[in-house]
Amino acid sequence: MNSSSTSLLSFFLATIIFGLVAPATADTDNGVCTPTADYCWSCSGDTTNATTTYEVNLKALLASLSLVNQTNYEFYHNSLGDGTNKVNAIAMCRGDIAENDCRSCYTAASVILSQNCSNQHQAVIWAINCTVRYSNMSIFGIEEDEPTKFVPSPNNTSNLEQFKQVLNPLLKTLSEKAASGDSMKKFAAGHELVPGTNQTIYAIVQCSPDLDKENCTGCLDDAISDISNSTIDGKDGGRILKPSCSFRFENNRFYDLAVDSLPPAPSPTQGNTTSITTKVSPSSFFQLLLSLLCISSALF
Ligand SMILES: *[C@@H]1O[C@H](CO)[C@@H](O)[C@H](O)[C@H]1NC(C)=O
Ligand SMILES: *[C@@H]1O[C@H](CO)[C@@H](O)[C@H](O)[C@H]1NC(C)=O
Ligand SMILES: *[C@@H]1O[C@H](CO)[C@@H](O)[C@H](O)[C@H]1NC(C)=O
Ligand SMILES: *[C@@H]1O[C@H](CO)[C@@H](O)[C@H](O)[C@H]1NC(C)=O
Ligand SMILES: *[C@@H]1O[C@H](CO)[C@@H](O)[C@H](O)[C@H]1NC(C)=O
Ligand SMILES: *[C@@H]1O[C@H](CO)[C@@H](O)[C@H](O)[C@H]1NC(C)=O
Ligand SMILES: *[C@@H]1O[C@H](CO)[C@@H](O)[C@H](O)[C@H]1NC(C)=O
Ligand SMILES: *[C@@H]1O[C@H](CO)[C@@H](O)[C@H](O)[C@H]1NC(C)=O
Ligand SMILES: *[C@@H]1O[C@H](CO)[C@@H](O)[C@H](O)[C@H]1NC(C)=O
Ligand SMILES: *[C@@H]1O[C@H](CO)[C@@H](O)[C@H](O)[C@H]1NC(C)=O
Ligand SMILES: *[C@@H]1O[C@H](CO)[C@@H](O)[C@H](O)[C@H]1NC(C)=O
Repeated sequence: MNSSSTSLLSFFLATIIFGLVAPATADTDNGVCTPTADYCWSCSGDTTNATTTYEVNLKALLASLSLVNQTNYEFYHNSLGDGTNKVNAIAMCRGDIAENDCRSCYTAASVILSQNCSNQHQAVIWAINCTVRYSNMSIFGIEEDEPTKFVPSPNNTSNLEQFKQVLNPLLKTLSEKAASGDSMKKFAAGHELVPGTNQTIYAIVQCSPDLDKENCTGCLDDAISDISNSTIDGKDGGRILKPSCSFRFENNRFYDLAVDSLPPAPSPTQGNTTSITTKVSPSSFFQLLLSLLCISSALF
């Protein structure tokens, strides 16, 4: 077979296979990712002109992200310029990321945005450790559910029915916790065993903390309902990414145990504290206890 007929054949094969296998998606899958999906982004709104004041403002605003400090790194928002040249930016790190890793995430995300979204009025980039957005329109405190990017894990889940019965309630519970957060942080992490299996689902959910409780819940509910018929459906892990909120679940713990909030532990004064989780090391148990103390002191 010569090479042109080979490529013709593979074109037809690819068309057929793609047509058969491509799942009907609940929502359009928007945006592109690096090959390992460490960074996914979506940008829109051509500026039509390469060196506008808007671009200059945008560059300065993105540069300011690498200067975040102890007081503002978890959630940073800023605007620069006036009128049609005004750029608004929001940046937030995942709830368990330390200051240095957060700052380097902002810096790396800004570099990718400036390389791949130049001459665009709006953009969002979702990294493993942070999310950065900008727009010429007002974005602070406003729920934005689109575009949505789906990042499925490669593996299917076994025990699909049991898995789903745990995943959805887990995500809902974490969403409520996240939505109850404050104006600097709306984030929750937790895990749950899939009954009758060895499998544990670990999940984190997060909203842009400038959203109110209702809009945070609204965005996350929308994201959870996007699982059905998306590329995430039936996978043992994945991420659903929206400008205002996101979640991620995996079958191994990918976040800091100190932020884990589920299952609810019995009150420390009564009950069998060793039954909180099996296999906790003394130091991680101490971390858990510490986080419990922090939670209760925040509550009372
Ligand atoms: C923002 O940019 C879009 C094009 O990308 C334009 O249609 C819109 O009018 C701009 N809005 C403001 C407030 O400048
Ligand atoms: C592009 O920028 C140049 C120089 O700043 C300006 O003269 C021109 O009118 C701009 N074009 C558009 C379409 O904005
Ligand atoms: C952190 O940065 C903000 C604004 O960029 C600034 O106002 C504040 O003084 C800085 N805080 C510290 C501790 O450096
Ligand atoms: C993301 O943050 C984690 C924990 O802070 C860190 O171990 C990891 O290296 C960071 N990832 C990148 C790509 O910086
Ligand atoms: C993003 O920009 C980099 C550097 O310019 C380039 O190598 C890469 O191909 C771009 N990625 C996409 C998906 O366009
Ligand atoms: C997918 O499954 C393979 C084989 O069980 C395993 O080696 C790999 O780590 C899994 N990938 C992920 C992302 O869990
Ligand atoms: C996952 O499941 C789908 C649909 O059931 C199947 O087409 C695909 O081959 C499976 N993938 C793996 C890696 O087992
Ligand atoms: C639980 O895990 C062990 C070791 O990884 C494996 O041998 C066993 O088959 C698993 N059991 C179930 C019910 O998946
Ligand atoms: C945000 O919440 C308000 C009510 O609090 C609601 O009216 C509005 O539709 C929500 N925004 C979106 C995009 O759903
Ligand atoms: C999901 O796909 C199934 C079959 O492909 C279809 O019957 C169902 O209506 C779809 N659900 C949604 C919410 O699109
Ligand atoms: C605490 O729970 C563990 C595991 O469920 C059990 O082995 C242990 O006997 C219990 N201890 C007490 C004091 O109830």
